[in-house]
Amino acid sequence: MAERSLIFAANWKMNYGPSEARAFAQKFLPLTAPAEGRNLWFFPPAVSIGALSESMKSRSDVTIGAQNVHWEPKGPFTGGISIPMVKEAGARLTLVGHSERRHMFGETDDQVAKKTRAALSSGITPLVCVGETLAERDGGRTEQVIVRQLGSVLQALKVDDWSRVVLAYEPVWAIGTGKNASPDDAAQIHELIRMELGRNSVGVRVPILYGGSVSKDNVAELLTRPQIDGVLVGGASLQAEGWADLVEKGSKAKVRPSGWHDAVEG
Ligand code: 13P
Repeated sequence: MAERSLIFAANWKMNYGPSEARAFAQKFLPLTAPAEGRNLWFFPPAVSIGALSESMKSRSDVTIGAQNVHWEPKGPFTGGISIPMVKEAGARLTLVGHSERRHMFGETDDQVAKKTRAALSSGITPLVCVGETLAERDGGRTEQVIVRQLGSVLQALKVDDWSRVVLAYEPVWAIGTGKNASPDDAAQIHELIRMELGRNSVGVRVPILYGGSVSKDNVAELLTRPQIDGVLVGGASLQAEGWADLVEKGSKAKVRPSGWHDAVEG
């Protein structure tokens, strides 16, 4: 297993068609040189995966992913996009269970588990997102929600599968609100996730990213926490200069523990 990298993941959500994605790549790439032990992940809309993969193919530190996939490889699922399709377009990763999918599109824990298993069996890396809503947090149910969301994935996977999974903790109340979880609060939930994995006999150190209002002003402090292995960023990843700046600031702040592994397949 190769040494694991610090991960900066850009989730563009419903922004940037193919020509805008190409323009972003042209601006962004000269601003960030590849760095040892650092992975830059981009999740553009599905129609832009091909264009972005092509525009960034010279960079081995860049990996492109889908924001959502269906678990079936093909068939009568109008509007669905399968894993073999995004793979052909250049994706090697997929987000699974992003809170916008769960809460706006009604994605269930069971569907998240199916998608995660399908991604692994098709040879792409799932980045599985978990996180509580404000009501759940205020009601003191954060831990219960995280354990439940994780539980469905734990049930669907074999222990060995976890060497190819990446997780993101994204509290719903922090997404797009400008109110990030404090580094200590985020670190505490990352610990909880790790304990839950351990309790279920997952021996590998699964990378856990934090997401929710990450900015160039708070990334350094978040990444100084050893529990936080990278960031998953929406709004602040949309401008090439700003994203390059955030990546540099975060990279300087991180002290990498030894023994990290790279969860992305070739
Ligand atoms: P923001 O960085 O815009 O809060 O979005 C976070 C997110 O949802 C990334 O997946």
